[in-house]
Amino acid sequence: MTTGMQVSVVGCGYLGAVLAAVLAEQGNQVIGLDVDDAKVPQLNSGIPPFFEPEFESVLQRSLATGNLSFTTDPTKLSASEIVFICVGTPQLDGGAADLSQLWRAADAIAPYLSETAVVVGRSTVPVGTAAKLEQRLNQKSGHNFQLAWNPEFLREGHAINDTRLPDRIVIGSNDINAISKIKEIYQPQLANQVPFLVMDVPTAELVKVSANAFLATKISFINAISEVADIAGADIVALAEAIGLDPRIGNKFLAAGVGFGGGCLPKDIRAFIASSQEIGAGEAMQFLVEVDRINLRQRDRVVRLAKSQLGDLTGKKVVVLGAAFKPNSDDVRDSPALDVANAIHQLGARVFVHDPKAIENARARFPELNYERDLTEIFKDAELVLHLTEWQQYRELDPAMLLTKVANPVIIDGRNVLDFAKWRAAGWQITGMGKRD
Ligand code: UGA
Repeated sequence: MTTGMQVSVVGCGYLGAVLAAVLAEQGNQVIGLDVDDAKVPQLNSGIPPFFEPEFESVLQRSLATGNLSFTTDPTKLSASEIVFICVGTPQLDGGAADLSQLWRAADAIAPYLSETAVVVGRSTVPVGTAAKLEQRLNQKSGHNFQLAWNPEFLREGHAINDTRLPDRIVIGSNDINAISKIKEIYQPQLANQVPFLVMDVPTAELVKVSANAFLATKISFINAISEVADIAGADIVALAEAIGLDPRIGNKFLAAGVGFGGGCLPKDIRAFIASSQEIGAGEAMQFLVEVDRINLRQRDRVVRLAKSQLGDLTGKKVVVLGAAFKPNSDDVRDSPALDVANAIHQLGARVFVHDPKAIENARARFPELNYERDLTEIFKDAELVLHLTEWQQYRELDPAMLLTKVANPVIIDGRNVLDFAKWRAAGWQITGMGKRD
């Protein structure tokens, strides 16, 4: 299906690069703009700067049609009918969002945009940011843009599908022309009955941070209950299944374990707390402070479990399965697995980390840890195994074969997904995070 518009995407990280490739696949002429002059030629050669299932093939196909190109030159945006702003909003010390990439992007593109361009923000921002960005764009361009907001909900590891077929499209705008242009570009999604919700700009900004805050809360809720379950001798997996069958609760995002990480949920709840305080609604968001605390406590919980298994960790060989913050990703930002690996290393253990995709990124962050690509070799003489990111290949491990490799057959399943009966039958001692069998 083609929609054939002139589009540009400003900021070619996870969100922007995937959006650019998918919009080009759908028949638009897309230019991706980024300030990173190493990343731009890489993308133009069809090499993804990050691992994301299916992204490489979509990128290469879109480049081959001639519909997609990447540049560092903002003058190339002058013919764009729609401009999506997708730059990162990382965390500042103290928790607030760092919006400097947004201001820089606005300053860079404003002089070159056509007066009739529809500018659409997609970055995750504190409520009120769009109004400031609109003002800045108008000051720098001399035009009168009505900035629209279109928050994104894509998940790493599912980014292509979430862009092709999102659960919903949310548009913050009261400009009829902008709304109709955005509808036009999302024609393929609308043809697939994706709900299209139009609201005012502050509501659209808040929808995004509220969605992530809810997801984070759900995970911390089940993790808090799993702490109780541990002490009470109850089973959190059976409990989650039972409460999740109530459709008002739902069974998604109820997996207890080492908690949430990544470039979104942790920083988004902290930014939400900070921006709510700024606008005088700090008290309402105080519960998110506890959500964050519960989440970080899960990492300590694994470290405590490791200490209770091995006592003094000095010189002990500990294997960590997983470095990415979640499977099907090479992203190690705020990764619970790596945080735990580092804490165990700080306690004197010899830590060996495996990950199918994230070793290079992990090594760049924690060069002092040992990394091993061979999933059998890594078990040699291990005294403790920590399963911290639930890649499919870890579920398929053969515990009977691994028993012959290790010095001490003890494993902690920080994601509660291994087959406990199988590991126990093979002679392992296995412990979960509130999971019994
Ligand atoms: C999250 C949201 O899910 C997306 O909707 C949103 O668009 C994105 O942030 C963003 O703001 O850009 P993502 O960071 O890719 O997406 O990861 P999630 O799938 O949400 O997982 C986050 C973390 O929670 C992972 O570390 C995962 O292991 C953990 N998790 C997830 C649990 O510990 N338990 C669960 O039940 C589910």
